[in-house]
Amino acid sequence: MIPRPALLNDLSGSCVLTSGATVSGDLVDAVRTALPGLDLRPGDSGEIDVRRDPALGEEAYRLTTGSRGVEIAAGGPAGAFYAAQSLHQLLPAASYRFSPGASWPVPGARVEDAPRFGWRGLHLDVARHFSPKREILRLIDLMAAHKLNRLHLHLVDDQGWRVESRAYPLLHEVSSHRPRTATNYYREPDTYDEVPHGGYYTLDDLAEIGVYARSRHVTVVPEIDVPGHASAILAAYPAFGATGEPHDVLDRWGISPAILSPLPPTVEFLTTIFDELIGALGETPYVHIGGDEVVLDHWAESAQITAYRESLGLATINDLQAWFLRRLADALAERGARAVVWDEAFVSGGLRQDTIVMPWRGMGVGRRAAAAGHDVVATPVFPLYFDYAEAASPDEPMAIGDAITVEDVAAFRPAPEDWTDEERARVIGVQAQLWTERVPDPRTVDYRLWPRACALAEVAWSGTTAAGFGERLTEHYGRLDALGVEYRPPAGPHPWQRRRPHRPSGVRVADVMARIDSMTHDAESTRPSV
Ligand code: ACM
Repeated sequence: MIPRPALLNDLSGSCVLTSGATVSGDLVDAVRTALPGLDLRPGDSGEIDVRRDPALGEEAYRLTTGSRGVEIAAGGPAGAFYAAQSLHQLLPAASYRFSPGASWPVPGARVEDAPRFGWRGLHLDVARHFSPKREILRLIDLMAAHKLNRLHLHLVDDQGWRVESRAYPLLHEVSSHRPRTATNYYREPDTYDEVPHGGYYTLDDLAEIGVYARSRHVTVVPEIDVPGHASAILAAYPAFGATGEPHDVLDRWGISPAILSPLPPTVEFLTTIFDELIGALGETPYVHIGGDEVVLDHWAESAQITAYRESLGLATINDLQAWFLRRLADALAERGARAVVWDEAFVSGGLRQDTIVMPWRGMGVGRRAAAAGHDVVATPVFPLYFDYAEAASPDEPMAIGDAITVEDVAAFRPAPEDWTDEERARVIGVQAQLWTERVPDPRTVDYRLWPRACALAEVAWSGTTAAGFGERLTEHYGRLDALGVEYRPPAGPHPWQRRRPHRPSGVRVADVMARIDSMTHDAESTRPSV
């Protein structure tokens, strides 16, 4: 199984599950949702019995299969849902296909299981390349099958804004598309495809995504990345920018100097956006507000912003950036949501104590955030940036650099042994990032995510990959095949997955990590990066 349960014993005895089987007990709906292909019927007694056990944690479960059928004890609906996911992995891989009327043998087994980390995340950048709603719903199902439970959607960047706004409609009318897209490798001269790209989620789409995710025990974490990465917003509403100058939705990659203003109208604009997002998504315990790669030059050059900073009694523009993010985090707290930020915002200082930090520039800055009492979700470029290629091979499709292998992900430890117990206790989870500058379509999303996300899932669930991960992954490919996942084959890309002829980028992830890690040591170095 992937992720490997805490305890898994084979038992003698077995049973058969036939579609239309009966499920009885306290948490029937969670089991039925997890196993839609089995078309399970609720009833008073039957092949599957599921009971709540208050002694277990919300996500914990026990699963026993054998000649008496299937028995599940779970701490709550999430535990019952994960028990059913584990049960699914005991069935043949073909059970992941639509197969009405099928019967599946269930071997005897005893499983006792609970997750090591509460935050088991995948991030998807839908700003650089849009992923339509149907792909998000499918991804939620794939995450659920791997017991991943946080979907971080990066909804805005210089290259696009991806949600409807009824209060600020130019965001979806103007900011959601660009006339063309850069096609060049990292640090090579820009070339373009001259093909328009765009798309956005309506608020109704977002509502559907929220409900669908919750029913699968996935929490959507929307990200409105501010105050930098602002070209797309400023293409629609330049008045919210530091200069008031017009901008275009960017058609190329890299860091732009476009920055929102910190003045009250921009704060009011963003809080209105938060209200629309939270109103649509429904219960939203976390909102990511970015804070990465901010070029503060336009703030420093603006007399109005400088006067505002002085009126607040703030000494530096870094202090002003810290104040601005804190103001937004306070607004989120009033709305019942915790702020999440990239690590630059921690380095700038002044965060609310309940703000969650994502140390993308390395675990060194992550440890400092943990030592300062922040909850931390481990997100370092190496080995959790899945926009890097899986091999330094000319066959790999275009990536930002290379290489991050499935073994690199499997070897990752989110809460390192050499941290203090207090620091380790601050690590609430782990998350892989898929930036999509060079991920033009959903087929490439599959290729980049899988199987690395299988290794992520095991690290997130168990804290470490268990013995035999490689063999279990080999077996797991059968499930991914049945699910129609276009994962990267272990021997490298299929012919149709290979890159267009071009020379390799030559950027090594180890060099990038050394450079960005060194940038986390002083507050001035929010200036970028990969
Ligand atoms: C980031 O990679 N700028 C979070």
